[in-house]
Amino acid sequence: MSTATVIGQALQQRLNSARELTDSIFRLLSPEALYSRPIPERHRLVFYLGHLEAFDWNLIGRKTLGVDSWSPEFDTLFEFGIDPPVGQAAADQPSDWPGVEEIQAYNRRVRARLDELVDQAPEQIIQVALEHRLMHAETLAYLLHNVPYHHKKTSVTAPLVHSSNRLVNSMIEIAPGVATLGQKRGEFGWDNEFAEHPVNVPGFRVAKYKITNGEYLDFVREGASAPHFWSRHSQHPGDRWFYRGMFAEVPLPLNAPVYVTHAEATAYARWSGKRLPTEEQFHRAAYETSNGSERPYPWGNSAPDAARGNFDFHHWDPVDVNANPEGDSASGVSQLVGNGWEWTATQFGPFPGFQPMPFYPGYSQNFFDEEHYVMKGGSPVTAACMLRRSFRNWFRPNYPYVYASFRLVED
Ligand SMILES: [Fe+2]
Repeated sequence: MSTATVIGQALQQRLNSARELTDSIFRLLSPEALYSRPIPERHRLVFYLGHLEAFDWNLIGRKTLGVDSWSPEFDTLFEFGIDPPVGQAAADQPSDWPGVEEIQAYNRRVRARLDELVDQAPEQIIQVALEHRLMHAETLAYLLHNVPYHHKKTSVTAPLVHSSNRLVNSMIEIAPGVATLGQKRGEFGWDNEFAEHPVNVPGFRVAKYKITNGEYLDFVREGASAPHFWSRHSQHPGDRWFYRGMFAEVPLPLNAPVYVTHAEATAYARWSGKRLPTEEQFHRAAYETSNGSERPYPWGNSAPDAARGNFDFHHWDPVDVNANPEGDSASGVSQLVGNGWEWTATQFGPFPGFQPMPFYPGYSQNFFDEEHYVMKGGSPVTAACMLRRSFRNWFRPNYPYVYASFRLVED
């Protein structure tokens, strides 16, 4: 068997399991919920059902291999969705969208055709399709998080166990040194990960743990508003707070990371007299070692596995911030990867030498607007391949729906 065939088979296998993952997320939904819009700023869920295949088809079939389409209407509808009138909220109705069977038939046809073509497309293009799908798996998860519980089929095997003894967070010294940001030429990455470059970072101190719900609760009790993921049941004795999990509300797990917006994280940092780390400080905390070298993951060189952190769809909800000591960095900082993206103080922008991907020029560039902040690390529903050191995520400072946590630094 040639090397190209082996690579082709490995990619096909990854594509199959990514398809199975997104299919399994759609299967959690009751049929009527598919046409709902759980987050006002996003499309109805039905859009994403067609979007994953339309994206793959447009990118691989049409643009890369120049194959004729049999369903240009679906290719276009599910590439962009139905745009809202300028300056207004989306006004489309469920009846504006095709039926499920029709979309599923389109999807089946796209998959069968792409499976025949996959060997002809450059590996990089298939990787783009793969990671695009896996990113949408995460987006779908947080969209589903906002679908009412009675419209979801529970897929939880056992509830997560949380400790109730309040943890003590401590600050860890990080020596001055170099953070290597970005991805090496020749390795796969999105355009915003290039070019690789070193940054000198002065010494600083970083919190061992992500900020917990318990710590944030002190801030709320002093008048800050509660995060999107919390709910308050005032009819309970003692006026209790709950965490709105994927499939059920649970009494607020005090040692789990708090999921907040960038604005909330920044306000908490100010209140506590500390700051959010910059992107390069995050890198230093996560990847530096005492001998001056850097490692691919906080724990070293080995590939991500469930003992190292809460990622890759093992759980839908966060675990306690001290649950993965095997994933600690060389300096002993915990859960830098997994259990919630980490907000940084760095605005999303191009690295020196940035060049937009010719086949998807707006992917990053459209967001270099000083209105988005870099997040690093990964959440419970971030696929393992996107836990690479150079991967960057970004959101607006007031978007409350993502699984985004934070930790603090001081000089
Ligand atoms: Fe997309």
